[in-house]
Amino acid sequence: MYRNAKNVGYYLIGQGSLAQLEDILNERRQKIAGPAIFFLDHFFQNQDLASKLPKKDTDLLIYVDTTEEPTTEGVDSYRDQAKAFLDGRTPCALLAFGGGSTMDTCKCVGNLLTNPGNSADYQGWDLVKNPAPYKIALPTLSGTGSETSRTGIVMNSAKNIKLGMNSDLTMFDQVILDPDLTASVPRNQFFYTGIDTYMHCFESLTGSYRNAIVDALSAKAIDLCKEVFLSDDMMEPKNRELLMIASFIGGMAAGFVGTVHPISAGLSMVLHMHHGLANCYALSVQEDIYPEQYKDFMTMMAKQKIDLPKGICANLTDDQFTALYEASIVHEKPLSNRLGPNFKEIFTKENVISRFKQM
Ligand SMILES: [Fe+2]
Repeated sequence: MYRNAKNVGYYLIGQGSLAQLEDILNERRQKIAGPAIFFLDHFFQNQDLASKLPKKDTDLLIYVDTTEEPTTEGVDSYRDQAKAFLDGRTPCALLAFGGGSTMDTCKCVGNLLTNPGNSADYQGWDLVKNPAPYKIALPTLSGTGSETSRTGIVMNSAKNIKLGMNSDLTMFDQVILDPDLTASVPRNQFFYTGIDTYMHCFESLTGSYRNAIVDALSAKAIDLCKEVFLSDDMMEPKNRELLMIASFIGGMAAGFVGTVHPISAGLSMVLHMHHGLANCYALSVQEDIYPEQYKDFMTMMAKQKIDLPKGICANLTDDQFTALYEASIVHEKPLSNRLGPNFKEIFTKENVISRFKQM
């Protein structure tokens, strides 16, 4: 089976490109009379971003609580809020200003505005049937690739699984990449999130499910990440733009991940740890599986003076370790991508738990 790959509709890139949002949105307003819905990371609640946006009084502004990553309950409640506001009208656009959590929330709410049921019903592959309203992404944090990927990741605590709404219909129609938007990101967060692209791409390149275009995009994104994170200052303007490009390309590649992401998903599900940081912990205990990438990662952390404090699993109970193992081992496709079909012989329960204990 060959994958019929879709790319994001339109994109524009460059410092100050946020200024073009008004024109793009006005085109939408002429086509559809309904209001726009702005999803902003709650980080911007005490900042002046909202006042700079082409938002009308008749539009809706939702601050997305990103303290934790998107959950099925959270997404459903934002959907309810948007539906109540719309009262049957079709929105001219949904806009997301934030990192992966905010963009994924926007993508998932979009799907639920045009499809019946709740977010848990669409976790999986190609379950979304009706196209969502028009969506615009304005990343304010680089690395997850949500701006170009075909998934919106949601945590489902009832099923103890972190799983996306994987669908071509989940994708954004327009992306605007303005590196000015990432200037105020805290340094640690800039690194933890940015390195997600690096992880996606090396996991894809070292896996067994491959394709030539994904490989080419992944290799380029890895080069860009190294250029940024091995430079003297990862956050200087040129580097913030390069990382935006790396994230965009990494999301486009969206190859199959390997063993970092499943372990990371366990940390997010059980300890509610954010994705980027969880990835860093996951790779920090997989030197045996990814020796070269582990070395590069450690060099990049040291160069940017990023710390990864030890002892995060020091006081966990046996039940919690079992939950960590189960929320990791459930990701069979990524695990077999790196370790082969008999991955459970390598990632035994003892092996996986001993990795968590090393964190
Ligand atoms: Fe990721």
